[in-house]
Amino acid sequence: MTALLETTYFFSIISFLGGLKFLSNPQKAKLGNTVAAIGMIGALAVSIFAFQTNNTTGINYVLITLMLIAGTILGKYMSKKVEMTEMPQLVSFFNATGGACAFLLGIVEANQATSFSALEKIILMIGIATGAIAASGSIVALRKLAGKIKDKRTLWVNITSKLSVVLILAITIASAFEWFNFTFLEYTITLVTIALIYGVLFVLPIGGADMPVVISLLNAVTGIATALAGALYDNKVMLAGGIIVGAAGILLTIMMCNAMNRSLLKVLTGSFKQHTPAVGGEKAQEIIEASISETALKLAHSKKVAIIPGYGLAVAQAQHLCKQIEKLLTEKDIEVHYIIHPVAGRMPGHMNVLLAEASVDYASLKEMDDVNDEMSSYDLALIIGANDVVNPAAENNPDSPIYGMPIIKAHECANTIVLKRGMSNGYAGVQNDLFEVTGCKLLFGDAKDSLQKIINELKLV
Ligand code: TAP
Repeated sequence: MTALLETTYFFSIISFLGGLKFLSNPQKAKLGNTVAAIGMIGALAVSIFAFQTNNTTGINYVLITLMLIAGTILGKYMSKKVEMTEMPQLVSFFNATGGACAFLLGIVEANQATSFSALEKIILMIGIATGAIAASGSIVALRKLAGKIKDKRTLWVNITSKLSVVLILAITIASAFEWFNFTFLEYTITLVTIALIYGVLFVLPIGGADMPVVISLLNAVTGIATALAGALYDNKVMLAGGIIVGAAGILLTIMMCNAMNRSLLKVLTGSFKQHTPAVGGEKAQEIIEASISETALKLAHSKKVAIIPGYGLAVAQAQHLCKQIEKLLTEKDIEVHYIIHPVAGRMPGHMNVLLAEASVDYASLKEMDDVNDEMSSYDLALIIGANDVVNPAAENNPDSPIYGMPIIKAHECANTIVLKRGMSNGYAGVQNDLFEVTGCKLLFGDAKDSLQKIINELKLV
């Protein structure tokens, strides 16, 4: 049985690594998911049958099977039902369950611990604490993303948060060296309670705009909790899986910080930039409106068009119409590129996933860095529901909260048309200086309606 277990774990680990490799290529991402899922099913199956004890009864298998079925149905239902714009919340929820799993397993283990060394106890306690922090922190993060919880930056939150960290460290050390007359389980339950509170306090003061970064960070924390549990239980697949999730989460956090021009240190210390309130105190902008027919004519008379998608495209669910416009233009021998900003939308790869849904050819997708120096070569930039990621204030205005954030240089195009519903600001809450740049016009309306009308006109041109 040990040989079967170790061999299956080995292939599961390979499948996780292979899956991750495929996931880095949009065309193979689905295959990557399937490969990793097969590895996970294999690891689960051998774990269930390999870890039999004298106490294992038929009812254990019935319960495990029922739970697996319930989890699979629930996971499938949630994944199907969720809107693309709510995907970060779903990721956060799944992350919370991973964290909860890590600390619940830890409690079970602590209940049975009779011969743990001080070092083993410390590893177990750190794993339990990180799991609990990730669990409650992720729930608060998803509620904040959904706009159900507001930021709370009070002195009380700050002091309690710091006190919780001190208590978590003190309990971990006290439990390892048996300073007080508590059982190990009592230490564990106290630690879980404080770590759950700390998870809430850690996320509460952080601005809503930074939630995707926090979710990625908490994802890494869950990975670390799982890896520590794997090390302790000598479970290689848990160890490897945890390391992969932890490393991927940390790398993603760093990449998101770079793309938003925020230092990881600021994220780690919780010193987040405050949200600038929308519109308050800002001057009225002088803008020029574009009409549907003007937009269609400009598109039809271009040689090279840049489509710059943003969060509004996801809200409007207009990706399929985008593809239709691309098709109509390419039929007229017009070159069309989609230019993707790494943090356009609300989660990493948001735009890639949306456009993949509409079967947009990956060859026409261009990374921001690859085309930014040649933006003036496009005759027209059609900006669909993007705002912050094309705001030149990030380059020109040192007082702007987004100053330093890399942007797509749409302002260098001779003609720019921005599709949006009104004059609302983007996620960063700042006015978009692009609207006043010569050659920039705004086409107001829901992106889906506007694109449909443009398509109707284009068919006539
Ligand atoms: P935003 O700056 O959030 O702008 C979205 C724009 O879409 C708004 O101007 C909005 O204006 C418009 N819009 C919304 N619904 C629309 C609809 N149905 N039809 C047409 N327009 C619509 O989006 P962005 O440029 O993609 O920037 C993303 C922001 O999120 C950045 O600030 C980024 O830092 C932040 N962020 C992203 C991530 C990741 S990983 N993607 C992570 C953290 C933070 P109206 O309401 O006037 O229509």
